[in-house]
Amino acid sequence: MGRCKNQGITIDTASPHTIKKFELIEKYTKAWAEKLLNYEKCNGIVFIDCMCNSGVYQDDAGNEIFGTPIRVANILSRIMHFFPSKQTWLYFNDFSENKINILKTYLPSTTRNFHIVTRSGDGNDLLKEINIESNQQLNYLLVYDPYTASLDWSALLPFFHNWGEVIINHMVSDTIRGASQAKSGTAVAKYEQTYLANIEELVTFGNDRKVYEKRIQEIITALRGFSSRQYFIASFPFFNRKNVIVYNLLHCSGSIEGFKLFKKTAWKTFGGKSSAKDTHGIENQLMLDFEGSGEPNTLTDEYCYYVKDIAKYLHDTFRGQEQVSLIDVWRKLDEHPVFPSDGFKPEIKKELKDTYKDTILKQTITFSDKRVRT
Ligand SMILES: C[S@@+](CC[C@H](N)C(=O)[O-])C[C@H]1O[C@@H](n2cnc3c(N)ncnc32)[C@H](O)[C@@H]1O
Repeated sequence: MGRCKNQGITIDTASPHTIKKFELIEKYTKAWAEKLLNYEKCNGIVFIDCMCNSGVYQDDAGNEIFGTPIRVANILSRIMHFFPSKQTWLYFNDFSENKINILKTYLPSTTRNFHIVTRSGDGNDLLKEINIESNQQLNYLLVYDPYTASLDWSALLPFFHNWGEVIINHMVSDTIRGASQAKSGTAVAKYEQTYLANIEELVTFGNDRKVYEKRIQEIITALRGFSSRQYFIASFPFFNRKNVIVYNLLHCSGSIEGFKLFKKTAWKTFGGKSSAKDTHGIENQLMLDFEGSGEPNTLTDEYCYYVKDIAKYLHDTFRGQEQVSLIDVWRKLDEHPVFPSDGFKPEIKKELKDTYKDTILKQTITFSDKRVRT
């Protein structure tokens, strides 16, 4: 993200991957809000972007681009006309008072059932002040999006425990660049606080981003404690123009419906795949499967899955089984950390039929015994 001065105000430049992030959060929030507001027991929704920036950016061509707070405010302001008996609260906060002042000039008007609170300060303090415990019939969506790998788990904790969903930007590129170089007390404390590990241990992680990703997911799971309810974490990588991961966007929810919806929205945002990584068409080249039967297969890139990888996963799971109920097939995907079923069912069925010659009926699939593509 670059920066330029515009009439004395600093406007950030939004790179394509940042614009994708805005799109994903915007689309998800719209779908999340509509789903919940249609639910009788939900009295209202609360959306929080506690590190929201000014909401205004420029793209590479100099066009004005809106960030999350303006996009979400506009969408929810429209939606709330259709739900007069429900309430919406938006909280927007940033360290910078200037940024919040710019943001305010772009926000839609509030109404009797559409409220906006703006403030400047530490976003973690705001989260600690919002009393999520006492508002059981409100549903929360928190966006936690700092510029660096800097997470305050004590502020996030209540949102993992209650009627909340949390979207966390894990700036793993900052850690890879900075953890081993961290010298000052503040820099060391930032990484230690984020990964709940001392710096000596973190340095042994080296450049292995997967260890950091795993660590963040383990912390979230541990913070959930012994809750009897299942918890779901989806994680999607965001690649820059150099095809390097800048961050992972994590979606954390106690609701499988939220988890399914986020996966679907992410795949739709990336145009039918799990990230914007440039795989250079290699994903479709047939290769010999030396570890298996020696027959041709396609390459799977765990940082950018395609529908063919979903079909391969299902075919491998159910290979040789007859008349498997579609309910069981889709349930397998519902639980998967990255693969969606909603929104992609026709494409997945087509791939199973064309590639593996599986027999698709209205209610069942009979999976052939073939190990690889035909
Ligand atoms: C990546 S931008 C946020 C983008 C925004 N969430 C969006 O999607 O449009 C990061 C912003 O977080 C702010 N920030 C970082 N740490 C913060 C903190 N602890 N409290 C408040 N603001 C913070 C920075 O000032 C910066 O404007």
